[in-house]
Amino acid sequence: MAISENRDQFSIREMGPDDLEQVGSIEQVASAHPWRRSLFQSCFDGGYHCFVGCVDSVVVGFGILSVAAKEAHLQNIAVSPDWQGAGYGRDLLGALIDLANELSARVIFLEVSVENSVALSLYLSKGFREIGIRKNYYTTADGKKDARIMRLNLAKTSGFEMITEMIRRSD
Ligand SMILES: CC(C)(COP(=O)(O)OP(=O)(O)OC[C@H]1O[C@@H](n2cnc3c(N)ncnc32)[C@H](O)[C@@H]1OP(=O)(O)O)[C@@H](O)C(=O)NCCC(=O)NCCS
Repeated sequence: MAISENRDQFSIREMGPDDLEQVGSIEQVASAHPWRRSLFQSCFDGGYHCFVGCVDSVVVGFGILSVAAKEAHLQNIAVSPDWQGAGYGRDLLGALIDLANELSARVIFLEVSVENSVALSLYLSKGFREIGIRKNYYTTADGKKDARIMRLNLAKTSGFEMITEMIRRSD
């Protein structure tokens, strides 16, 4: 069956301990700079917001968001290569943006490799904008790669909050 025919069966739920094995496996095959499995455990144990995307009961992707002091950070997102291109990554990212809004985050930050044009295209289409470059951020089989730092502004910020934020960042 073509993956697009599974569109209606796609759902997103919180990640559970039993999902870590499959999530780690997806990361290994999807990412050019895969996380160690222990990092997923740390996010999970650390109370980050960890979700999986499923087609029926099969975990086909995941997304992890941290939120602190009204700033959210997209820690990781991936869809299994067999299931890419069907809109699941967009749905996962949309769910994490909605969650950040619900948790009153003002902004979401993320890093993406300068070579990752697919993810970049997704982030741009969701309104993220580049705010800088982190040199040598990723270690890949081909050596170190720079990352784009991207930012998505969420709820409107009052003038007072903007000034407070500017002072905080200049400290
Ligand atoms: C980035 C990723 C999560 C996107 O998931 P996906 O399910 O394949 O993406 P979707 O089908 O939802 O497509 C979302 C957008 O990505 C872009 N995209 C998807 N496939 C693409 C391709 N083959 N070429 C170019 N852009 C593509 C498009 O902008 C697309 O939007 P559109 O369909 O409206 O044109 C997935 O490619 C992935 O897991 N990549 C490896 C891990 C990774 O790089 N994670 C990001 C770390 S920062």
